[in-house]
Amino acid sequence: MTKLRILSEEFDSVHQHDPIEHITNRIKKPDGILEKLRRKGLPADISLIDEHLDDVAGVRVICPFVSDVYRVEQMLRRQHDVEIMRTKDYIASPKPNGYRSLHLIVRIPVFLSDRVENVKVEVQLRTIAMDFWATLEHKLFYKYDDQIPSDFADELSSTAAIAAQLDERMESLHRRVHLENPSQTDGSPG
Ligand code: GTP
Ligand code: MG
Repeated sequence: MTKLRILSEEFDSVHQHDPIEHITNRIKKPDGILEKLRRKGLPADISLIDEHLDDVAGVRVICPFVSDVYRVEQMLRRQHDVEIMRTKDYIASPKPNGYRSLHLIVRIPVFLSDRVENVKVEVQLRTIAMDFWATLEHKLFYKYDDQIPSDFADELSSTAAIAAQLDERMESLHRRVHLENPSQTDGSPG
C-alpha cells in the first residue's frame, strides 16, 4: 500500500496526473482460508497456505484509465524488491462472464523486528468502470456457483461490453484533453 501511495503521489506531482484513483486492501479471514483449502481438496494445515493460496493478502488498485492500469503495473515491475510471480491479464482476455482486471501475484518483503517475511499478495488492478461492473456482478451473482442462467449470463456480458466501451471512450477523451493541454503530460513518450 505504501509503495503504491508513493508511486501515485510522485507520478502525480511530476505529470499532473494521478494514475491511482484509490487503493483498498483486505486480509482473508481464517474461515475463508480454511474453506479455500477445503475447496482445493487440501487438509487444514497452516504450512500449506503459502504454497497453495495466493490471495490471503489482497490489494485492489482502482485507476482512472486503462493506460494507468498498465502504467502502475510497469512501475511495480521496476521495483527491485517486488517479485512478480504470476500475471493474469483479464483485460486483454476477459473472463467469459465479461470480468476484466489485471491480476498480479507478487511477493514482497515485510520487515519484522527479528526477520524478513516474504509475503504473497494478490494485486488486482482495474479501472473505475471495471470496478463498478465487478462489484455489482459480485453482489448480483455471488450465490450462483458458476451456473448462472443463460439469459442472465448474456445480459451480464453485454453490460461488461458497455463498461469496456466506456473505458475506451474515456481513454480517448483523456488523450485529447492532454493533447490540448500539453502542460499536463500523462507520462507517455511524445
Ligand atoms: P479464485 O480461486 O476465485 O481466487 O480464482 P483463481 O485463483 O483462479 O484466480 P482469479 O485470478 O481468476 O480470481 C481471483 C480473484 O479475482 C477472485 O477472488 C475475485 O476477487 C476476482 N474475480 C475473478 N473473477 C471474477 C468475476 O467473475 N467477478 C468478480 N466480481 N470478481 C472476480
Ligand atoms: Mg485467487
